[in-house]
Amino acid sequence: MTPPSNVASLRGVTVRFGGARTAKATTVLRDFSLDVAPGEFLVIVGRSGCGKTTVLNLLAGLLDATAGDVRVMDKPPRQARHHLGYMFARDALVPSRTAQENVEIGLEVRGVGRQQRRARSQELMNSLGLAGAESRYPWQLSQGMRQRVALARTWALEPDLILMDEPFAALDAQTRESARAQFLQMWERQRSSVVFVTHDLTEALLLGDRLMIMAPGGRIIEDMRLPFPHPRDPAELPFTDEFRALERKLKSWLSD
Ligand SMILES: Nc1ncnc2c1ncn2[C@@H]1O[C@H](COP(=O)(O)OP(=O)(O)O)[C@@H](O)[C@H]1O
Ligand SMILES: [Mg+2]
Repeated sequence: MTPPSNVASLRGVTVRFGGARTAKATTVLRDFSLDVAPGEFLVIVGRSGCGKTTVLNLLAGLLDATAGDVRVMDKPPRQARHHLGYMFARDALVPSRTAQENVEIGLEVRGVGRQQRRARSQELMNSLGLAGAESRYPWQLSQGMRQRVALARTWALEPDLILMDEPFAALDAQTRESARAQFLQMWERQRSSVVFVTHDLTEALLLGDRLMIMAPGGRIIEDMRLPFPHPRDPAELPFTDEFRALERKLKSWLSD
């Protein structure tokens, strides 16, 4: 079997809430199309309410399009769930499980043996700066650590496509920076396709290979490759002239 040329695609997708015949119906996406290539890190930026989460929910099979076609790994999204990881702004850890046991949940469900599970979860926890926190319970972890546990859990299954909805938005500035840096490093080692939603432009430019700016109605007002090669240094890159110039330009577009 040949691998799919796109990990995900939306073709001519319309999403309407409230039903076609009600006066209160709102059209969130109108004739929206998007392809995500294997290994691509796509960041979607746009104001609140423009339909970013809706796009992720379509890809996750949590929501059906009113019209149009949605595919993940060439399949309807509901049949492609084992290819997917989905991570939200708020972690959803199981309180009765330790950090490490939380990281292993997906592996366990998939039937991966205990030793292999341990090795994989330990490797991920080490690379995310969680060494020493393995046997702590979620209530014993800071918000930043909990979010990193959720990240490790998502990553553990090596999904072909990772959907991330403002995953660092609930963290304080400093924690957010280190979580971002660790995530970037991890992605540079093991490149899955990522669709990453954020309203933070600096974060978008720092992480993404491709940037899409959405406007209300799901209108795409920009879709561009980002010119920054990997590996990136998150402590340096945001202060380079090229980065700042692009950030300034895009900021003015976003605020129009
Ligand atoms: N289940 C729903 N029923 C009605 N309206 C919804 C529903 N889900 C989202 N919306 C509306 O769709 C629009 C886009 O939502 P969303 O995709 O969450 O935007 P974003 O993530 O860009 O902030 C918003 O105006 C929101 O109120
Ligand atoms: Mg949203």
